[in-house]
Amino acid sequence: MTAQSIFRGPALLDEIVRLKKERNAVILAHYYQKPELQDLADFVGDSLDLSRKAAATDAEVIAFCGVRFMAETAKILSPEKTVILPDMDAGCSLEDSCPPDQFKAFREAHPDHIALTYINCSAEVKALSDIIVTSSSADIILSQIPKEQKIIFGPDRHLGGYLARRTGREMLLWPGICIVHQAFSETELLKLMAENPGAPVAAHPECPPQIVDHADMVGSTKAILDFALTSPAQTIIVATEPHIIHQMEKAAPHKRFIGAPGGDGNCNCNMCPYMALNTMEKLYVALRDLEPRIEMSTALMDKARVPLERMLEMAGRTVGQGDVGRPVLSGD
Ligand code: 13P
Ligand code: SF4
Repeated sequence: MTAQSIFRGPALLDEIVRLKKERNAVILAHYYQKPELQDLADFVGDSLDLSRKAAATDAEVIAFCGVRFMAETAKILSPEKTVILPDMDAGCSLEDSCPPDQFKAFREAHPDHIALTYINCSAEVKALSDIIVTSSSADIILSQIPKEQKIIFGPDRHLGGYLARRTGREMLLWPGICIVHQAFSETELLKLMAENPGAPVAAHPECPPQIVDHADMVGSTKAILDFALTSPAQTIIVATEPHIIHQMEKAAPHKRFIGAPGGDGNCNCNMCPYMALNTMEKLYVALRDLEPRIEMSTALMDKARVPLERMLEMAGRTVGQGDVGRPVLSGD
């Protein structure tokens, strides 16, 4: 029986809260989740802070409201925990763009390069990598790698390209993209900027260069949120998945946050279709049945943990470390 047929509205929320307690579960949510999931989560964060939370939690069950690679990361960092994901089909276009066998062949063709890999990838690709980065940790991690070291960066060519342009480092880029950030339209953004003179643009580095080049600030979801809240501007244009605006409106209801449009300005193409698969009903069922559950072989988790632990060592293990109150990937 589905949750819809049993509970609705407040009763569903009550049941989730009851099951969470019964299961000794913690609910972690990404900023791109539906507002109702963000609101009931114990912690809402960007990919780095969610990894830090997953590594540190005492809960027996981690209910991950995000996409599969995030829940896999939680399981790899806390293998003794039960990790559930409300919808196992919640994938990611960046992960899809980087099949492990092709990535392995690419690495083998460049034996003098290390692989600095964006966390938005499969556990298999993590296991083939040297260091994992997120958009909030890439800068600080890159700064600790000797200048002469050759680097492969995958799977997001836009984040890799942005880092290469900013730091002047040459990197071999894997040609992956995020379909959500790729959908922002430069023409529509320019129109919006003209209609809102003086409103700063905050953009995620998964956006293509024609969007990032117009941004006053470029950073992770957490850094964008910090910027939106601390900027003296009363109107801010936000070029990332629009569900993050929920946190902005909650924290600063007197300000105006405008999502940058995708396509011709009338599509929903800048909403992540994978993140959207998670619902309150599916979260309830997952907590009730402890399914769908993230499972991987111990051998795979042991290999994938090495570059993830390197990330946590190089970026710091404390939530917010390195990017409190300021975007690490600033637009300077
Ligand atoms: P961050 O939250 O780390 O900025 O990542 C954004 C994203 O695309 C998650 O899938
Ligand atoms: Fe993947 Fe893009 Fe969705 Fe993030 S927003 S989960 S990168 S498809």
